[in-house]
Amino acid sequence: MRKTIIAGNWKMNNTRKEARELASELAKALKGKSGLPEVVLCPPFTSLADTAEASKGTPVAIGAQNMDFHDSGAYTGEISPPMLLELGVTYVLIGHSERRQLFAETNQTVNLKLKAALQHGLIPIVCVGETLDERENNLTDAVVSRQTAAAFEGIEPDALKTLVVAYEPVWAIGTGKVCESAEANRVISIIRNTIANYKPGAANLAAQTPILYGGSVNAKNSAELLAQPEIDGGLVGGASLKADEFLSIIEAGQKRLASLGARA
Ligand code: PGA
Repeated sequence: MRKTIIAGNWKMNNTRKEARELASELAKALKGKSGLPEVVLCPPFTSLADTAEASKGTPVAIGAQNMDFHDSGAYTGEISPPMLLELGVTYVLIGHSERRQLFAETNQTVNLKLKAALQHGLIPIVCVGETLDERENNLTDAVVSRQTAAAFEGIEPDALKTLVVAYEPVWAIGTGKVCESAEANRVISIIRNTIANYKPGAANLAAQTPILYGGSVNAKNSAELLAQPEIDGGLVGGASLKADEFLSIIEAGQKRLASLGARA
């Protein structure tokens, strides 16, 4: 059975004080609860330590939103994998569309970052997804397959047991326009199929890789999305900034887990 993961991408929001408040509120609500999905909080770099501290003793894991692929050196403004590990970070988002579109990340840097994360024992959440223009030109399947295959180049199939992928259609991010759940499910099976075929030996392991959906996930639509067989969780932006709303999405994840358990 694949992990169910609910990850909150706070983007460039929450000062240290705000991060502590939000993480503490979540910690209070989640402490001692059983049957939870894997909950991951991805604050900005400056709030990682505070978020980790406020989440201590809870099942909440901490993720970074980005990282450099070098260990150290003359890379002004960058943060390395060992620096993240030191702060208690266990997950890292790689190739988020905002990084690709606004900060010139390419399939190649995504691939290098994926390799670096795996090498350092961080769990990568690799993001792929098509733009509106690509969707309207019927290029969705080709684009997500290409991005996925490029990200995985040179990666050992064994990594499929650890890493996570997120399907995030660019047109759905921050727009309030969620991808229809059956369509998200369909694209995710295309991604899984790409993973299964990227290298000999990957076929059996691809079934173990959690693939999340992201893009305008909220308290209202999360249950329907998470009821889809291929959608193993959510990568949540705006709705992860409010404790109540994020907790409702976690609850939808909890229901998914319970129903998977009942079927197993
Ligand atoms: P959103 O963002 O939920 O605000 O659409 C999702 C993401 O960018 O990961």
